[in-house]
Amino acid sequence: MTARADATAKTANPKAAQKTATTETRAKQAAIAEARSVAPDLAARIGSTPATTFRGNPDIFGRLVEDHDRHRALFAMVQDTDAKSPQREALFEELVKEIQSHAAAEEQALWSTVLRNPETTEDARHAVHEHKQIDEMVADLAARDPATAAWMTRFGELKEKYLHHIREEEQEQFVAAEEHLSASDISHMKSVFNRRKKAEKAEAVIEEKIRLKH
Ligand SMILES: [Fe+2]
Ligand SMILES: [Fe+2]
Repeated sequence: MTARADATAKTANPKAAQKTATTETRAKQAAIAEARSVAPDLAARIGSTPATTFRGNPDIFGRLVEDHDRHRALFAMVQDTDAKSPQREALFEELVKEIQSHAAAEEQALWSTVLRNPETTEDARHAVHEHKQIDEMVADLAARDPATAAWMTRFGELKEKYLHHIREEEQEQFVAAEEHLSASDISHMKSVFNRRKKAEKAEAVIEEKIRLKH
């Protein structure tokens, strides 16, 4: 690279970075606004989110991160409710339907294809296995009294598990998947995800089953 070209690259990069940061911030704010529509008077303190290159992207991965941010906000909002407020149950129900429909549509649109490629089978298996573990924690929580301190402690455990799951997807499994998917796969997946998520959410039933002994 010539000295002049190098100087041009250095002046161009900060602008590109700034534009990306704005797009990312807007995507995160839009996801939080969706969550807050359920209970506008509650704060949604999701704080800083783990770095991901996908936030604000127009493809399937940007769409999935948008849901993840919406879920981060709903988790924070449930923790902000009073023990006996009807908002706690309403927000928990919305969160569960969101988590279930997101996971099912993610499996149908993304993980099924990623699973078929031997290079990424393990990434897809890992994500789907965690969906199952999360389902069990949700069913256990749904069977218990949300007005108790013990419920909120368990809810904190679910939050920790879920935030781990989505951070790992954003930083590991999506990265591996993107490397091995074709452009036509990626462009097709977002519409499949949107269609399936809507259908899954409309039909979502919250299972209530005590599964955890501790
Ligand atoms: Fe997932
Ligand atoms: Fe996800």
